[in-house]
Amino acid sequence: MADQDAQIGEGTRPPEIPAVRWEEPPEGPVLVLLDQTRLPAEEVELVCTDASALVEAIRSLAVRGAPLLGIVGAYGVALAAARGFDVEEAASALAGARPTAVNLAVGVRRARAAHRDALARTGDAREAAEAALAAARALHREDAEASVRMAGHGLALLDELLPGGGHRVLTHCNTGSLVSGGEGTAFAVALAAHRAGRLRRLWVDETRPLLQGARLTAYEAARTGMAYTLLTDNAAGSLFAAGEVDAVLIGADRIAADGSVANKVGSYPLAVLARYHHVPFIVVAPVTTVDPDTPDGASIEVEQRPGYEVTEVTAPQAPVTGAGGGIPVAPLGTQAYNPAFDVTPPELVTAIVTEEGVISPVTSEALAGLCARSRQV
Ligand code: MRU
Repeated sequence: MADQDAQIGEGTRPPEIPAVRWEEPPEGPVLVLLDQTRLPAEEVELVCTDASALVEAIRSLAVRGAPLLGIVGAYGVALAAARGFDVEEAASALAGARPTAVNLAVGVRRARAAHRDALARTGDAREAAEAALAAARALHREDAEASVRMAGHGLALLDELLPGGGHRVLTHCNTGSLVSGGEGTAFAVALAAHRAGRLRRLWVDETRPLLQGARLTAYEAARTGMAYTLLTDNAAGSLFAAGEVDAVLIGADRIAADGSVANKVGSYPLAVLARYHHVPFIVVAPVTTVDPDTPDGASIEVEQRPGYEVTEVTAPQAPVTGAGGGIPVAPLGTQAYNPAFDVTPPELVTAIVTEEGVISPVTSEALAGLCARSRQV
């Protein structure tokens, strides 16, 4: 089988621009995002001065990925407060910008609660804005810490499941520093294996239709110097059949109380393939992605995206001609089915890795125990 090495980068080098940062120029506070729709062609900043700009950035996927959405949601509340906008209005617009990743609503709720509490306690809008910002900063920091711990737990699990090292790991979508305050979730585990000299190859699913794997994960992998190879999503089956995959590592947008995992569309077929081929299917996510209020997979709202994302392709900076601004790849008027996520049932998930530890098998009791442990910290 073809085993071409993709370009290998010059060593561990994160993007020059962090995925998100808070700044306070003389004109007033801003949230500066790395515009992920422009990657890998160029690193461009997107400067947001209010919640509506952030809502647009979230919807267009300029900023994306569950943990980062939580962080941005919290900073968005802080931004509205610092600039004197209606905080409650901003909070509900932000929380509703995308429905599936529960981290977004959790981040917004946390900053809004800090704002409300401080306002009730002091009656001072400035203090309340500072409290919202402190909450956002704390979430940002905690997410970075959670990344480190997930990487440690995840690598230990890989080593246990695959004694002998030389792991060949398949991943889907994008789960590295572009979606996190730190080095990410599933990608952070692969990176830990690479640093330990135990990652033989990262197989990167391109992740149709918006190519988060090709545009973003390959971009991140190239900067670490790890061996990685890009494949089309529909090549994964033949890769499993050839015995080239030792484990699947993916992130999550929401984990229901029964352990069902919503993640980028295409994750569920990988879980089915992994089960058929006796390959561990491992989900890596912070505890903030577990939603005890969503009882099961059927209760997870799956975002439906516009059809033109399927009927057109939009390469960064490509000439634009189609209704969605891209190059048509289907006859005009073609209907498209375009869910952004799918749901994998717990029985297909070998393990869930969080910063609080690993659960395997995945049961509602084990998940509840993990959440309880996290609340005690
Ligand atoms: O639509 P996206 O790009 O926001 O989807 C992102 C994913 O599905 C990621 O796999 C998920 O958020 C986990 S990120 C650690």
